[in-house]
Amino acid sequence: MSDEDKIILEDLIHIYKGVVETVALRGVDLTIKAGEKVCLVGKSGSGKSTLLHCLAGLIIPSSGKIFLDNEDITKLSINDLVKIRRDKIGLVYQNYNLVDFLTVDENIQLPMLAANKPKEERRKRVDDLLKEFDIERYKKSYPPYLSGGEKQRVAVGVALANNPSIILADEPTGNLDLENAQKIYELFENLTKDYNVTLVIATHDSNALKYVDRHVEMSELNSL
Ligand SMILES: Nc1ncnc2c1ncn2[C@@H]1O[C@H](COP(=O)(O)OP(=O)(O)OP(=O)(O)O)[C@@H](O)[C@H]1O
Ligand SMILES: [Mg+2]
Repeated sequence: MSDEDKIILEDLIHIYKGVVETVALRGVDLTIKAGEKVCLVGKSGSGKSTLLHCLAGLIIPSSGKIFLDNEDITKLSINDLVKIRRDKIGLVYQNYNLVDFLTVDENIQLPMLAANKPKEERRKRVDDLLKEFDIERYKKSYPPYLSGGEKQRVAVGVALANNPSIILADEPTGNLDLENAQKIYELFENLTKDYNVTLVIATHDSNALKYVDRHVEMSELNSL
């Protein structure tokens, strides 16, 4: 383990126990360096979202270790996991995960409120992000009235609000046209360049491959 290693997964196994038992991750080993941009590719159901949710501390894996900045987060309490998620991680959910009864402005402010950021800073950050994504006019709109692509851009704004050092993006361009998808990839690229942000994108979009340092096949990660 070196200081440059931002994310290390060791023999990560996750089994969903529902009506049917599904082994979603079967012994994944993966190391990602600080500032690296990695694309997770693989067919539907191959475990991409599960892997990102484990990294974000949303799922406690059945077994294995997840080191973020040399700290094994599988050992942390729920409260500590919430703090790590708030301070370190920006997660763009595959299904946006916006709060429908809050405006776009309020949705983006939520993670900053949780981190006790002052009002002026929150306001400025929201305005900057909305401008960057060309959705300023929807600031006071509610998510159900936005198009899929607009919601997706708001979701990226929520993920970036607290300037995370790790961005986990689950199909962040699934609903975007080529131009807007390119904007999101370029923004991610600049963040990794300017702030050494580490990026993990799960996607079916082969266009993403041009913007990352390497891609990882889920079928290879998941072969025992
Ligand atoms: N909450 C859950 N409960 C039970 N099984 C689940 C749950 N979430 C995912 N699974 C199962 O785990 C496996 C991996 O799912 P996951 O969502 O991680 O795949 P994915 O690669 O992200 O797929 P997609 O490309 O369709 O988004 C699938 O077989 C799925 O049915
Ligand atoms: Mg998925």
